Amino acid sequence: MKVLVTGGAGFIGSNFVHRTLRTRPEAEVTVLDALTYAGSTSSLEGVLDRIRFVEGDVADAAAVDPLVADADVVVHFAAESHNDNSLADPSPFVRTNLVGTFTLLEAARRHDVRYHHISTDEVYGDLDLDDPTRFTEDTPYAPSSPYSATKAGSDHLVRAWVRSFGLRATLSNCSNNYGPRQHVEKFIPRQITNVLVGQRAKLYGDGRNVRDWIHVDDHNDALWAILDRGRIGHTYLIGADGEVDNREVVRMVLELMGRDPDDYDHVTDRAGHDRRYAIDAGRLRQELGWTPRYGAFRDGLAATIDWYRSHEAWWRPVKEATEAKYARTQQVLTR
Ligand code: NAD
Ligand code: TYD
Repeated sequence: MKVLVTGGAGFIGSNFVHRTLRTRPEAEVTVLDALTYAGSTSSLEGVLDRIRFVEGDVADAAAVDPLVADADVVVHFAAESHNDNSLADPSPFVRTNLVGTFTLLEAARRHDVRYHHISTDEVYGDLDLDDPTRFTEDTPYAPSSPYSATKAGSDHLVRAWVRSFGLRATLSNCSNNYGPRQHVEKFIPRQITNVLVGQRAKLYGDGRNVRDWIHVDDHNDALWAILDRGRIGHTYLIGADGEVDNREVVRMVLELMGRDPDDYDHVTDRAGHDRRYAIDAGRLRQELGWTPRYGAFRDGLAATIDWYRSHEAWWRPVKEATEAKYARTQQVLTR
């Protein structure tokens, strides 16, 4: 099977490539990635000689067309992925997430290629902390940020291409991922690397916001279940019943790293900050027989901390610039 992986030099995409080569050695993998600030070929270290790597933009039709024509399946990860960046400057989000998806869809339609669209639970907006419900495939779309709005728009494009043009596509909306090779701008790697460089952990607002954490390998196993057995035109929610509030995550990181669990700062809250995400992955579990393999979040977190400890050369070059960017908009409120 020839698999075109867009965004394969980013966090989830690179883990998908590593996992695919381990579990399906017969797969022929091509990665298309623009190597933005979020992508690096160092995330593909050890497998670069087993894949075809193409540096290019998913919104560039001339670059995309021959790669899609040559593929059996397109797995579309490439995106601008960070909410805070989308508040500072939404324009690359519109281009990559909307125009990029449109460009891939047109190529997949032209060449009748199977397409899988990677999306987020953030398209559904947020839930109250005391709301007993969780997101399902039937939850109405209500995105809050420029990031989630452009992801929502890209999902709608995919559905329209299925219905109007008969595109052979599936979609998945996953909750927050953690694991190796995640950019240090994101919550968990930011706290781990802050501790490693001697800075304090940073919690937005009151820290009571809840995210539904899933290990990146569980996400990628679910993607293969959908690629193998998913019903065309269907959406699958991916989540592993991993709701934890941010304050608890920070305390766990600090404790696992041998620090005082209260040794963090409250900083300026994110504008429009979604309160809680929670996924009901019943369809994925019942229809496709998927179950997460990573049990306790704490164990996965400990393994992730070990990965950042032993891969300083991977994250160190971008740490300072990332913190400098945050320092422009975030102030320490209380210690
Ligand atoms: P990431 O930011 O780590 O990686 C994105 C990758 O896409 C990078 O390698 C970047 O260079 C590449 N890219 C960006 N713009 C591009 C363009 N125009 N053309 C080609 N490549 C481009 O993101 P991630 O966290 O790995 O997320 C991957 C996908 O999963 C995204 O679609 C995201 O919306 C979705 N998702 C992420 C999470 C999460 O927790 N990280 C959860 C659910 C869904
Ligand atoms: P993030 O990793 O940006 O993912 P998302 O916005 O897609 O959920 O943030 C996860 C949660 O952590 C979110 O509630 C914002 C919060 N957060 C902090 O408290 N401190 C931080 O330094 C960052 C980056 C995020």
